[in-house]
Amino acid sequence: MSRIALVTGGSRGIGAAISKALQEQGCTVVATYAGNDEAAAKFTEETGIKTYKWNVGDYAESKAGIEKVEAEVGPIDIVVANAGITRDAPFHKMTPEQWQQVIDTNLTGVFNTVHPIWPGMRERKFGRVIVISSVNGQKGQFAQVNYAATKAGDIGIVRSLAQEGARAGITANAVCPGYIATEMVMAVPEKVRESIIAGIPAGRLGEPEEIARCVAFLASDDAGFINGSTISANGAQFFG
Ligand code: CAA
Repeated sequence: MSRIALVTGGSRGIGAAISKALQEQGCTVVATYAGNDEAAAKFTEETGIKTYKWNVGDYAESKAGIEKVEAEVGPIDIVVANAGITRDAPFHKMTPEQWQQVIDTNLTGVFNTVHPIWPGMRERKFGRVIVISSVNGQKGQFAQVNYAATKAGDIGIVRSLAQEGARAGITANAVCPGYIATEMVMAVPEKVRESIIAGIPAGRLGEPEEIARCVAFLASDDAGFINGSTISANGAQFFG
């Protein structure tokens, strides 16, 4: 049976690799994006994966977007809450706006994405919820009080959803990527990035596909007894 999968932030970075991996696994994939029309159009052209634009931080927009996807493509079986941003600053310099933007997108965005899909999963007695957390939610990170709070929050979300969904055939799991070669990590100042890589026993950044493979496995029918778990893929940087 071809499952329908929605990947937020699914046209760039780790999200794009996840969209492609799920497509390769036989899913019908839909990717959302927030602003980069050009990247989304290019992604659709290259992969045939439909993209939809909305702000995951806004509940009404998310709900309307999900209703549109379900009307046009079909009921969503697999949801990957991947959309995320950074607004890094040492705590003494972090502004309330930097705090709020990251909370809205990375944490409330997970609620806004999963909540409208959840009742349908319960009715159909099947669902896969995968939230992309981070090594920095497990260990904390200098200049990321906001981001680390959201990524630690993701783990609480999936552990709670797992308990609520288990009897309805729904699993909820988190994947915690380490530092992956994406635009987000490349935006870190080079010297800081070099020192981070020096602290990764693997001696390198991860590849987006190395995260996508974890997600594809959790999304598969075979992973039905894995529920409330966290898969870390970080090159031995941290054992969470
Ligand atoms: N540990 C300890 N000290 C650190 C540090 C660290 N990781 N990073 C920076 N510092 C120190 C600097 O050495 C500097 O110290 P001095 O003042 O003694 O020289 C001080 O902190 C920086 O102070 P600044 O006032 O210069 O800081 P700034 O306002 O310019 O901010 C920064 C710079 C935003 C912190 C920048 O260094 C940065 O972006 N750091 C990277 C943060 C990071 O790792 N983000 C992860 C992004 S990738 C991601 O989030 C994906 C994922 O899930 C893994």
